Amino acid sequence: PKLVLLRHRASCCLAIPPVFKQMIQCGSENGPSPEWLVSHTLTPGDLRDLRVEPVVTKSSSILMNISWILRADASIRFLKATKICVSGKSNVQSYSCVRCNYTEAFQTQTRPSGGKWTFSYIGFSVELNTQYFIGAHNIPNANMNDDSPSLSVNFTSPGCLDHLMKYKTQCIQAGSLWDPNITACKKDEKTVEVNFTTSPLGNKYMAIIQNKNLIGSLVLEQSKLTHVSVMVPVTEESEGAVVQLTPYFRTCGNDCIRRKGTVVLCPQTDTSFPLDNSRSMLSGWLPLLLLASLAAMGMLVAGTCLMWRH
Ligand SMILES: *[C@@H]1O[C@H](CO)[C@@H](O)[C@H](O)[C@H]1NC(C)=O
Ligand SMILES: *[C@@H]1O[C@H](CO)[C@@H](O)[C@H](O)[C@H]1NC(C)=O
Ligand SMILES: *[C@@H]1O[C@H](CO)[C@@H](O)[C@H](O)[C@H]1NC(C)=O
Ligand SMILES: *[C@@H]1O[C@H](CO)[C@@H](O)[C@H](O)[C@H]1NC(C)=O
Ligand SMILES: *[C@@H]1O[C@H](CO)[C@@H](O)[C@H](O)[C@H]1NC(C)=O
Repeated sequence: PKLVLLRHRASCCLAIPPVFKQMIQCGSENGPSPEWLVSHTLTPGDLRDLRVEPVVTKSSSILMNISWILRADASIRFLKATKICVSGKSNVQSYSCVRCNYTEAFQTQTRPSGGKWTFSYIGFSVELNTQYFIGAHNIPNANMNDDSPSLSVNFTSPGCLDHLMKYKTQCIQAGSLWDPNITACKKDEKTVEVNFTTSPLGNKYMAIIQNKNLIGSLVLEQSKLTHVSVMVPVTEESEGAVVQLTPYFRTCGNDCIRRKGTVVLCPQTDTSFPLDNSRSMLSGWLPLLLLASLAAMGMLVAGTCLMWRH
């Protein structure tokens, strides 16, 4: 009896468009789509918008969040899937595609809530310093000889110091999460003091000081300290110069991430501030001098008194 009731209800409400839950199911499809081989008289229109942004996953990899918006027109009824292909260009070339099937046939041009149909797919690993070309088209596409409507965007991934890329394992191993907190100051004409925090990734570092030229360098090996302070000999004026710290970690060798700092004047209390010193000396001596002259005067008075008595 329950079943009958349900069926009854369903038929009573056919006039109202039923609310359906549209989802996507994505899987790789590097070859041509099966729909490509048969001709379709009615095909869906192209996408309205395509966007790409990098996201960090829990397992420290960076993936693309590719999102797209469907055009709200009648051709949406023929839409079965959207295919996305990504080609990457750096030292190596890559190319791969996914196909996202819509789980239901589209019954409305917009979402039940009213907005345009929007979907997103998270996948395609983002490598460092790579230029990506992302193209998407709807399936079934136009016939074999026609140009199929598609949208494309470019995306260039940054290097290891980027706020997201630094979480890539490869970047972490090159020292992206290491905060050396470099401070450097001009100790005197021939010396720059450089302080920094070492990384657990390695114990060999090189500090170089340069203005226009290289004016000093020092290699630190086998440091077991977490905070080090080194004196780097320099050959030229070092105030305002740049200190570059190069670490040598196991996995990145000579290509680890280098860090920079600026050489400032060391905060000093003696010798290098003659004006301040003489002033402070004067103010230190002045009361004594006064006291001494007072004493001298007193002695003079006492002496005169004595002479008078005699
Ligand atoms: C999507 O649909 C096509 C054609 O029906 C099918 O070959 C493919 O396996 C489907 N992909 C997924 C991820 O369901
Ligand atoms: C992916 O992008 C879409 C559209 O901008 C957004 O709604 C969604 O939250 C993003 N997903 C993640 C995991 O960032
Ligand atoms: C994307 O990059 C390719 C290759 O560099 C270029 O030919 C194309 O014009 C770019 N497209 C856009 C939309 O910027
Ligand atoms: C960096 O160094 C400065 C001065 O030595 C210190 O005050 C600061 O706390 C340090 N910051 C970090 C994050 O270690
Ligand atoms: C370096 O560290 C030493 C000892 O902690 C400190 O006295 C000095 O002021 C620091 N120098 C700089 C440039 O931070």
